[in-house]
Amino acid sequence: MKGRIMKMISVDGGQLAVLDQGAGPPLLLVHGFPLDQSMWRNQWQSFATDHRVIVPDLRGFGSSSAVTGTVTMAQHADDLLALLDGLDVREPVHLCAMSMGGYVAFEFLRRHPSRLKSLILCDTKAAADAPEAAANREKMAADVLREGAVVAEKAMLSKLLAADAPQRQPDVVEHVRQMILGTRPETIASAQRGMAARADMTGLLTQIQLPTLLIVGELDVIATPQEMQGMADRIAKSRLATIARAGHLTPLEAPAEFNAAVREFLVENA
Ligand code: MLT
Repeated sequence: MKGRIMKMISVDGGQLAVLDQGAGPPLLLVHGFPLDQSMWRNQWQSFATDHRVIVPDLRGFGSSSAVTGTVTMAQHADDLLALLDGLDVREPVHLCAMSMGGYVAFEFLRRHPSRLKSLILCDTKAAADAPEAAANREKMAADVLREGAVVAEKAMLSKLLAADAPQRQPDVVEHVRQMILGTRPETIASAQRGMAARADMTGLLTQIQLPTLLIVGELDVIATPQEMQGMADRIAKSRLATIARAGHLTPLEAPAEFNAAVREFLVENA
């Protein structure tokens, strides 16, 4: 990201790299797995014209401190709180989170609700893993530690994007490939274990009173439109925006449509 201003902020036992740009109501963008803050490259500048845009690399990812073992969604949520405190962001934030970032957002909501003004949940799920999915994560954790991040690239790259992305958006495919291959194997393993252990948040949905925008790619095979419609149906002040032709990575695959949906929501909830 040309011209970006990166800071390092201390959190419990480590440091988070964070882009902190612009002025105005704070907008916190939380990336998915196994990605980094650059997945928001089409958003941060656009929203920094009238928001303070805060874009971290989660613990272990990107330029943040390395990890081993298991990193839970609760740990990431507490890191985000420490990050906001470290940046002296006291007013409630608009939290926009994608996929694994959404799992973190649910934990953040449970643990630190007073720090939130609204939620934007992108291509994510409230349900916990079924036993088979959790076992697959454990397998990938072991494989990636033995063979490297290429294991995750082979297993995930095609599922993250619409099937026609290699023809239609080769630059996006390459960017996502580089993010995955640039993620430390220990981080991939720790995140997989953390996601396998995450709590089922379905029961939380009916308790959410914050304005909530849900966004899904119509071709998302990881967090499907049907699944996200089910979430929207349970959240009182919510609506679902479905983005045509996009897969799981809506902010990268369809930035114009994604940004328009987010901007409309932010204006409504300023
Ligand atoms: C993500 O995009 O963050 C992942 O697909 C989440 C997951 O593996 O459940």
